[in-house]
Amino acid sequence: TYVVTENCIRCKFTDCVEVCPVDCFYAGENFLVINPDECIDCGVCEPECPAEAIFPDSDNRAAPWIEINAKYSTQWPNMTRKIDAMPDAEEWKDKPDKAAMLSE
Ligand code: SF4
Ligand code: F3S
Repeated sequence: TYVVTENCIRCKFTDCVEVCPVDCFYAGENFLVINPDECIDCGVCEPECPAEAIFPDSDNRAAPWIEINAKYSTQWPNMTRKIDAMPDAEEWKDKPDKAAMLSE
């Protein structure tokens, strides 16, 4: 499965959503997650993310986010269409240490 990680927080560009063939993205207030049971590992979302937030679960950068994607993808609503990015998305795009800002 692919995994959404920290870089998405406060950006939520949603370009990923638009390309997913199985619509397996779920949206929180300032972050998106992928449902690991629905993702078919096609990889098309990964290069679409302007914040480079998406990695395969085999990548070390995905490791701390695997459980978070699994958990919230059963709680948050499904998202299938691109919407506007968050208002300060460009400003937050390359900022480190956003994990604590995840809205649950
Ligand atoms: Fe969707 Fe493919 Fe990305 Fe999985 S890897 S979330 S199936 S676009
Ligand atoms: Fe987030 Fe990137 Fe998608 S910022 S909403 S993972 S395009």
